[in-house]
Amino acid sequence: MEQTVKNLDDLLSEGVRGRRVLVRADLNVPLDGERITDDGRVRASLPTLRKLTEAGARVVVTAHLGRPKGTPDPQFSLAPVARRLSELLGAEVAFATDLVGESAKSVVAGLSDGAVALLENVRFDARETSKDEQERGALADELAALVGPDAAFVSDGFGVVHRKQASVYDVAKRLPAYAGGLVLSEVEVLRTLTGDPKRPYAVVLGGSKVSDKLGVIQALLPKVDKLLIGGGMAYTFLAAQGHDVGKSLLQEDQLDNTRQLLAEHGDKLVLPVDVVVADRFAADAQKRTVGVDEIPADWMGLDIGPRSVELFSGILAEARTVFWNGPAGVFEFEAFADGTRGIAQAIVDSDAFSVVGGGDSAAAVRTLGLPEAGFSHISTGGGASLEFLEGKQLPGVAVLEGEG
Ligand code: 3PG
Repeated sequence: MEQTVKNLDDLLSEGVRGRRVLVRADLNVPLDGERITDDGRVRASLPTLRKLTEAGARVVVTAHLGRPKGTPDPQFSLAPVARRLSELLGAEVAFATDLVGESAKSVVAGLSDGAVALLENVRFDARETSKDEQERGALADELAALVGPDAAFVSDGFGVVHRKQASVYDVAKRLPAYAGGLVLSEVEVLRTLTGDPKRPYAVVLGGSKVSDKLGVIQALLPKVDKLLIGGGMAYTFLAAQGHDVGKSLLQEDQLDNTRQLLAEHGDKLVLPVDVVVADRFAADAQKRTVGVDEIPADWMGLDIGPRSVELFSGILAEARTVFWNGPAGVFEFEAFADGTRGIAQAIVDSDAFSVVGGGDSAAAVRTLGLPEAGFSHISTGGGASLEFLEGKQLPGVAVLEGEG
């Protein structure tokens, strides 16, 4: 980040005792009912919150969960997150059952020095994600008014800085704004990847859709030495090579793009050589491992196979810089988790500077029980880290740099 960006330490040195500080965090965690299945993002928010509470700030946290339709929806309530945050902080977190309404006002008014409140899901208000600047601005005004005239804003939700949304972008124009430690450290790490990474530089991309990753693949190919493709999107690449992929995920409309990538960068792109196929999409499906030219017509590939893991692992063992985003298979089903586990293990075993790019892959590292310390950095941002690597401007960062 630019040196001109004010950060949390600057705010702390100004003094925050008794002052309200609005913090945008990314607490968008996976839930199974009310159970948080991976609390990595909640834990990642703690250092900034602790620094503020220890300095006596009255901390008001705003965050989103999932993609509700701009109206309150209990399945996307942040209440379970408030409980987990409270456990991890070892202090009560006051939970407001609305965003800028009566509950929020009373919770914020009742905060004492060093205490933390969490507002209900900011996406329960349609203005948060509106494309209309005035609508977003109106919500940002209400958030700023909620914390009052002497307040400050700390942007610490790295996972959401690629969104031009009221609580990420517009509010930073209304309150004195500071970059939180998480945003700063994430940007610093990702800059080493876009700058002059140690070579060989290998990137592993997984996930389901080529269309979601096309931009980043195109941006990365000139910069990397090898780009390994796994996950659902591998089947579109395999089909583009002429393989019959049976009932596997296939984006027909991306076949031309994929063929072009293979024609131009076939030396760098590495595809699976075998896959684990299933007779249906289910945890207890029948499965078998087949070569990529033997996928049965009625079966679907749900993971990469052991020979692919070996191939990928060999490349990762040689690499000095590794970026990984997207699982290699449907790791949520144990029967199809070996490919993702194998890749993660190969990264742990390598001496490379390794970055795991957020979202599902970060959750996979933790839910598959791999040592977090085996990676140089586990990003909290999936989409945000990909957009950064793609070279896009991140509105939530640009606004802190005064370029919004
Ligand atoms: C994420 O999960 O990547 C962030 O929390 C952003 O969520 P979004 O993609 O719904 O904006």
